[in-house]
Amino acid sequence: QLYRKAYYNGSATELSQLPEDQGYEVAFAGRSNAGKSSAINCITEISALARTSKTPGRTQMINFFSFDDERALVDLPGYGYAKVPEKMKLKWQHTLAQYLETRQCLRGMMLMMDIRHPLKPFDIQMLTWANQADLPVHILLTKSDKLKKGAGKQSLLSVRNELKKLSLNASVQLFSSLNKSGKEEATQKLDDWFEV
Ligand code: GTP
Ligand code: MG
Repeated sequence: QLYRKAYYNGSATELSQLPEDQGYEVAFAGRSNAGKSSAINCITEISALARTSKTPGRTQMINFFSFDDERALVDLPGYGYAKVPEKMKLKWQHTLAQYLETRQCLRGMMLMMDIRHPLKPFDIQMLTWANQADLPVHILLTKSDKLKKGAGKQSLLSVRNELKKLSLNASVQLFSSLNKSGKEEATQKLDDWFEV
C-alpha cells in the first residue's frame, strides 16, 4: 500500500526552496485547526507523521511527505490564523497563490473544512484560486464525528448547494480522522490523482 510508505521529506517556507517540480503532488489545504495534519496521519496510517496540535497555527511551513521519488503529499500551513501578523499573512497568501498557479506537478487539492464551520472566506479564496488554475479540488468536511449522522448528511448537502450557488467546482465528502470514516473515499480520490 503506497500511502503507508510515507516519510517526511523536508520543508519549505518560500517557493525558491521547493523541491524540483516533477512527478505528482497533492496539496492538503485548509484553515488552521481544520484537521489537515490529522487527515494526513489517518490516510497514511502513521500516527505521528504530521504534527497535530490543539493550538491553531502549528504547521508553519510547507511540509513534504513523499511516498516514492514520484509522489508526495504537501501539508500546507493553516491559513486564517488570527495571531499571525498581517504582513506575514499577506506574504503567505502570495506564496500560496503562486504555488497553486505555477506548480506543474500539482494534481489536486484536498481542502479540509471543519464540518461545523464550512466555507469561510479563506476557503472560498482557495477554491477560487484552484478553479482559476484548473486544479481539481476535493473537500473533506472534517471532524464529522462531532455531528450526529443526520446533521452530517444535512451539512454535506448544504455545502454542495452553496458551492453550486457560488459556481465553485469541487467534490465534497464527510471525513473523520478520529473514527476513520470517509478514509476509503478520500484514498480513492488520491489514487485517481496519483494514478495509482
Ligand atoms: P494547523 O497545522 O494549525 O493548521 O492545524 P491542522 O489543520 O493541521 O489541524 P490538526 O490536524 O493539528 O488538528 C487540530 C485539532 O483538531 C487537534 O486537536 C486534533 O486532535 C483535532 N481533530 C483533527 N481531526 C479530528 C477529527 O476527525 N475529529 C475530532 N473530534 N477532532 C479532530
Ligand atoms: Mg497542521
